[in-house]
Amino acid sequence: MPMNKALTSSKYQHWCTPDWLWHRVTDFFGEGGILLDPCSNRWTSVKAARHLKAGGLSEPWGRNVYMNPPYKGIGPWMLKAAREGVANGPVIALVPARTDTKWWHGTVPDRALSVCFVKGRIVFERPRRHGPTWTAGFPSALILWDGSPLLPSDYRRKQRHRFKDFFRDIGWVV
Ligand SMILES: C[S@@+](CC[C@H](N)C(=O)[O-])C[C@H]1O[C@@H](n2cnc3c(N)ncnc32)[C@H](O)[C@@H]1O
Repeated sequence: MPMNKALTSSKYQHWCTPDWLWHRVTDFFGEGGILLDPCSNRWTSVKAARHLKAGGLSEPWGRNVYMNPPYKGIGPWMLKAAREGVANGPVIALVPARTDTKWWHGTVPDRALSVCFVKGRIVFERPRRHGPTWTAGFPSALILWDGSPLLPSDYRRKQRHRFKDFFRDIGWVV
């Protein structure tokens, strides 16, 4: 695909999160904000204590992770997010709301604590800080994993309510 065409499509792998959205995630995490952006690049404006530009699938993540993964080969990123979020939580992912896919069914039902189906389409930031923004051609979801679903806890119940309160104005939270 010629570069100018790629820069206006979902085939481009480097679309960056708009400021308003990562600010919201930062506020949700509270003190310390986002501790890790596991699939970063040098153009992103996401503020995190640690950014990984390589090795994001193999390094340990820890808690307070915000992930906006490359869409090509998204399956392993979702598996890693679900595993890390269940073991260490919280992990929040911004991904296409592809509820018919294997990667969604393998990582969201029974494992995620909450999902926000975002109203409208997200406008992603300019590639390499120039060129056009890109309005996603599909709906997006914010997914929260935070601890083990096998261990119902007061913490998880409170986190589910907090997530709903935080994100209900941008979409339908379930
Ligand atoms: C959709 S962009 C998101 C950038 C940034 N996290 C944001 O939300 O603004 C995904 C980025 O992941 C990076 N990436 C791809 N494979 C990676 C890996 N194995 N480890 C870390 N980063 C990776 C790509 O370079 C790409 O720019």
